[in-house]
Amino acid sequence: MVVRPAIRTPGTAAQNRQAVQAVLSGHVVAAPFVKWAGGKRKLMRTILSYAPITFERYLEPFLGGGALALALGIPGMLLNDVNGDLINAYMVISEFPVALTTELDRLKALHSEEFYYFVRALNPMGMTPVEQAARFIYLNKAGFNGLYRVNRAGQFNVPFGHNPNPSLYDVMVLQAVANVVAASTVSCLPYDQFLRQNARQGDFIYLDPPYIPVSEYSDFKRYTKEQFREDDQVRLAELYTELVQLGAYPILSNSHTPMTLELYGQHKIIEVEMTRSINSVGMGRGAISEVLVLPRSDNGIQS
Ligand SMILES: C[S@@+](CC[C@H](N)C(=O)[O-])C[C@H]1O[C@@H](n2cnc3c(N)ncnc32)[C@H](O)[C@@H]1O
Repeated sequence: MVVRPAIRTPGTAAQNRQAVQAVLSGHVVAAPFVKWAGGKRKLMRTILSYAPITFERYLEPFLGGGALALALGIPGMLLNDVNGDLINAYMVISEFPVALTTELDRLKALHSEEFYYFVRALNPMGMTPVEQAARFIYLNKAGFNGLYRVNRAGQFNVPFGHNPNPSLYDVMVLQAVANVVAASTVSCLPYDQFLRQNARQGDFIYLDPPYIPVSEYSDFKRYTKEQFREDDQVRLAELYTELVQLGAYPILSNSHTPMTLELYGQHKIIEVEMTRSINSVGMGRGAISEVLVLPRSDNGIQS
């Protein structure tokens, strides 16, 4: 039984700061229920050590596995991702947890390589939200390395992960995620539309877009069939500057590339080291340098 907070009103600035402090000292409200390429579990403390001291609301336009948002669990967060399968899964975890785990148990009982490819080939369009969410979670946990990758037609195309006994869910994790979702507003929009509709002065916004590729082998752009191309990166950098001018406090992650340094040159850039565990070609594991972009001034929100 999931107990849901009844309200989505934001916490006070002091409560928000406390939530950041709690994560910095090792306490998380909830953890991701999916493995997600570019997930920020390992970096979340580094990122939050740059959080503003006071802020009104927390916004995350590229939610993915939601490592930061779930760890914080602040009431009234505005969370968004353009991936409809992913956002449907968040909603189903919150609304229909029992039906979801029943369906996941059914899939787990049938698990094999052949069954994986059978489920992968099914068209999710005709499914109920619960069936769609179960398929999404099953493919994420039974597929190769937790990747989410689609072809140009938008079909999930990750190969079998060769784990004979994948763990599809943990009840405590799902319950904690459900509580955070119930206290948040979750949407499925392109990031720019989400930010233009919602961002305002005093917001702390964490932006974790698909990264600028560091080499021809790194291809994490295909979270969606539209991909995230160079002109998207340019538009995002422009929007970052607009958010700063608005009086919000955006922190953005990206890879350490000449293009990143050029796009964000007018802001503060901090280099951080990250060990990747998900890599599409199994290369480049080990320390990878990436950057955090911060506003140059505290924007009236003490940092
Ligand atoms: C690097 S991942 C975010 C990882 C996340 N911080 C975590 O801890 O798991 C980038 C996310 O951006 C989403 N995305 C890609 N293009 C987008 C767009 N145009 N608007 C909104 N979200 C987008 C992808 O679906 C993906 O989940």
